[in-house]
Amino acid sequence: MSQILLLGRDGQLGQALKPQLEALGPVTALGRDQLDLVDPAAIAETVAAMRPQVIVNAAAYTAVDRAESEPDLAQKINGDAPGHLAMAAAQCGAQLIHVSTDYVFDGQQGVPRQPQDATGPLGIYGLSKLAGELAVQQALPNRHLIVRTAWVYGAAGPGNFVKTMLRLGQSRPELRVVQDQVGSPTWTGDLAAAIATLIKLGPAVPAGTYHYTNSGVASWYDFAIAIFEEAKALGLPLTVTDVQPIPTSAYPTPARRPAYSVLNCQQTTDLLGYPAPHWRQSLRTMLSQYLQESQQP
Ligand SMILES: NC(=O)c1ccc[n+]([C@@H]2O[C@H](COP(=O)([O-])OP(=O)(O)OC[C@H]3O[C@@H](n4cnc5c(N)ncnc54)[C@H](OP(=O)(O)O)[C@@H]3O)[C@@H](O)[C@H]2O)c1
Repeated sequence: MSQILLLGRDGQLGQALKPQLEALGPVTALGRDQLDLVDPAAIAETVAAMRPQVIVNAAAYTAVDRAESEPDLAQKINGDAPGHLAMAAAQCGAQLIHVSTDYVFDGQQGVPRQPQDATGPLGIYGLSKLAGELAVQQALPNRHLIVRTAWVYGAAGPGNFVKTMLRLGQSRPELRVVQDQVGSPTWTGDLAAAIATLIKLGPAVPAGTYHYTNSGVASWYDFAIAIFEEAKALGLPLTVTDVQPIPTSAYPTPARRPAYSVLNCQQTTDLLGYPAPHWRQSLRTMLSQYLQESQQP
């Protein structure tokens, strides 16, 4: 049984990962209150004191738009901290599983991106996450897995597109949702299970960069429509009756986002030995669990 250190305890992925990792060994899950990733000395001390066999980093600065005005903080958390974690892992012989993003790509190609494809982040968040990947590769070349994912949502954690749509869909009559950005909505339940399986497979998974998302492709508009259809089928009363597709140009944001943000996950699913569930199926599973839990007294 491996001793596992999980960072990002309170995030949506961190909370989904904890039970999956507990099936592999004892887990110490830390939040920002116990280990602030902006502090390199604290990273080194925490890892040296615990001497884990596996470190899973699900913590990140994830505010994509705010990053444009806080580049130094985004770089410290997403760019520098993974390198400090990798150095600490090297000192104690641990493996580092580091979660990264589709936003390392520019989304201009119109075909699903392979792990080895050229990167080209469009904004500060993507740049900082790419810097983190490079720091991990450099400090721990033979004992890291970088798992890039995209469009993540789950029942736990601070918030995401699904929770936002459910809130707006119960309070507004009409909504406008971007149609010209596409990706693969990915449920934390499936992502956490895939990460745990990659760890369990041990040496059968060579060090390197992997992609994992749910299968299938959707625009934010398609995703919103599906959320409302599934929620309605599960009995959730909605106020929204009119959902309009709009172009990105009609919804300006501080950060530019990739237009076609689909990852090719074949290499990962070959190793896992099972296909990634389709996003619509996983959305249904998540919503039925989430709505059941939130309706409990
Ligand atoms: N969300 C997406 O759509 C998406 C897409 C692609 C990739 N990813 C990647 O997936 C991973 C998990 O993301 P998520 O969606 O689970 O994000 P999340 O829900 O925002 O959780 C991120 C966690 O990181 C913690 N954190 C932030 N700054 C920290 C610091 N200085 N020290 C320690 N902890 C800190 C946060 O702590 P607090 O709770 O204290 O704020 C939060 O619990 C990240 O690597 C992210 O880049 C996410």
